[in-house]
Amino acid sequence: MSRAAVLCGLGGALPERIVSNEELAAQLDTSDRWIRTRTGIGQRHVVAPGQSTSDLAVQAGAQALASARGTADRPDPGVGPVDLVVLATSTPDRPCPATAPDVAHRLGLGNVASFDVSAVCTGFVYALATAASMITAGVAGRALVIGADTFSTILDPADRTTRAIFGDGAGAVVLRAGEAGEPGALLGFDLGSDGSGADLITVRAGGSRQRSVPGPAAAGEEFFTMDGRPVFTRAVLDMSRSSQSLLERVGWSAAEVDKVVAHQANIRILNAVGEQLGLEEKQIVANLDRVGNTVAASIPLALRDAVAGGELQPGHRVLLTGFGGGLTWGSAALVWPELETGRPHR
Ligand code: COA
Repeated sequence: MSRAAVLCGLGGALPERIVSNEELAAQLDTSDRWIRTRTGIGQRHVVAPGQSTSDLAVQAGAQALASARGTADRPDPGVGPVDLVVLATSTPDRPCPATAPDVAHRLGLGNVASFDVSAVCTGFVYALATAASMITAGVAGRALVIGADTFSTILDPADRTTRAIFGDGAGAVVLRAGEAGEPGALLGFDLGSDGSGADLITVRAGGSRQRSVPGPAAAGEEFFTMDGRPVFTRAVLDMSRSSQSLLERVGWSAAEVDKVVAHQANIRILNAVGEQLGLEEKQIVANLDRVGNTVAASIPLALRDAVAGGELQPGHRVLLTGFGGGLTWGSAALVWPELETGRPHR
């Protein structure tokens, strides 16, 4: 058997404060009906003043580590200390340094390798592929992979579209060295990007392009902006193509997949991807009604909700697929392992 990265822990965290559609409608020209019918979202969680991405990442990471320890109470040959932390985020605590070392430190993981990955809503799949590759190559033995974002901190308070869609959160998994063929072994990845679409999902100010020009940024350029319609089209196209190409490589037909856990951007996007792949509704996992689009946290939080709700079971064939700014996209496949997952997140 060849060496593989095996998923053995899962966790998630959401900030306490819930913003309902009704609350948004009281502040902006929108309605619960518009948001529900156009996006499928009913509420989202947002951080409190002073709370940051690392705070959520630490909570989700601690829960994933506890879950891995619980799982490891059963005979588990791959148990060892975490020696790698990869954090996917586009809302780091600070532009520099990366947020992952602080998260690793606060989790008491010692002097482990740690770094951030920036691929917006595809960040978790990119981070998973990075950590899995490092484990397979023998560079790491056990990795904590976190997707965490606090987009509420970069949204324009007056933008009804982005405020309706995005929410804050963090999700995490633990990967350990194991053998190909074990439940939980990552079976393959499909990753891609198209920088010609960089302006479709962006924050214009705060980087070297804007800061190399003397003087403050133009008004509003510090906020996140998104061109919704082309993003919608590309999300459907790129997640469908990426999923299809990975399924061919792994040797599964779409009908053989038990659960597709796609980036939770919009219920209409999930349904359109399902249609492109010829999926039935019961194959598609959706939790965006409760959390919105949590960016890099989206896929692991959907996994966690699906496990907590009993929808995702050991032995299920699982396809993960994401799409986001960059533009970027990526997919991963695995057979779901038996896990201890602690209490469900809020
Ligand atoms: N409440 C009420 N009306 C809204 C609104 C809101 N929250 N947000 C946008 N609208 C309006 C628009 O201004 C537009 O009005 P107009 O026709 O007078 O210009 C109208 O609704 C329709 O806008 P449109 O963009 O055609 O709507 P849509 O059906 O495409 O839905 C999105 C808009 C943003 C929900 C949709 O395009 C989308 O989900 N895009 C992808 C977003 C995404 O997934 N981003 C992350 C990717 S990682």
